[in-house]
Amino acid sequence: MKTKKLSLVVAACNNMGIGVDGKIPWTLRGDMKFFSRLTSGTEEEGKQNAVVMGRKTWFSIPDRFRPLPKRLNVVLSRNLTTPPEGAHHLAGSLEEAVKMLTETTVADTIDKVFIIGGNSVYKDALSHPCCHRVYLTRVYKDFHCDTFFPNMDDTFKLVSDPTIPSEMQEENGIEYKYEVYEKVA
Ligand SMILES: NC(=O)c1ccc[n+]([C@@H]2O[C@H](COP(=O)([O-])OP(=O)(O)OC[C@H]3O[C@@H](n4cnc5c(N)ncnc54)[C@H](OP(=O)(O)O)[C@@H]3O)[C@@H](O)[C@H]2O)c1
Repeated sequence: MKTKKLSLVVAACNNMGIGVDGKIPWTLRGDMKFFSRLTSGTEEEGKQNAVVMGRKTWFSIPDRFRPLPKRLNVVLSRNLTTPPEGAHHLAGSLEEAVKMLTETTVADTIDKVFIIGGNSVYKDALSHPCCHRVYLTRVYKDFHCDTFFPNMDDTFKLVSDPTIPSEMQEENGIEYKYEVYEKVA
């Protein structure tokens, strides 16, 4: 068994809000492309990455974009008994998903594992022993939100990654910036 590092990917506005009424409160095409490139890009040939998400995040993705292409889509639910239509796998907890992605035959087909929300899935992932990085798109604007990114404690340090654009981005009058945090302890 080979352990896999978990990376969280999130976009959050000034109050660390990530969603409202089951949707993301802003439209930033550049950030969507960044998300797609980051979560699809593999280093090991012949493998794909996995994206792990809560049931509500799955259903927040418009039908025509589900499953997220070229990635293994894993949905977490404590109540569903079969994967929602289009999803590749269902797991009853983050730990069950990680076990499936590291200890079963599925593991041989997977390069990286990305945790893509929402709130409680991020919370579990931040405290998971395999948690490695948080890719945070900081959106410098106030939006009304009902879902938030959990607090990152001071074991997460801002790092520079030459593969990630560091300059301020701007779209539709909204400024945003890509940040990478790494868990140091
Ligand atoms: N800005 C961003 O980067 C970003 C990213 C993702 C999502 N969002 C937004 O966030 C909102 C959705 O997030 P959310 O926090 O409300 O919901 P969510 O985490 O996506 O889904 C919650 C559901 O997922 C299942 N679940 C969550 N944690 C689980 C666990 N540890 N084990 C097993 N099942 C688990 C449960 O499903 P059951 O009830 O079926 O048991 C739970 O009711 C939407 O507004 C979406 O647009 C934003």
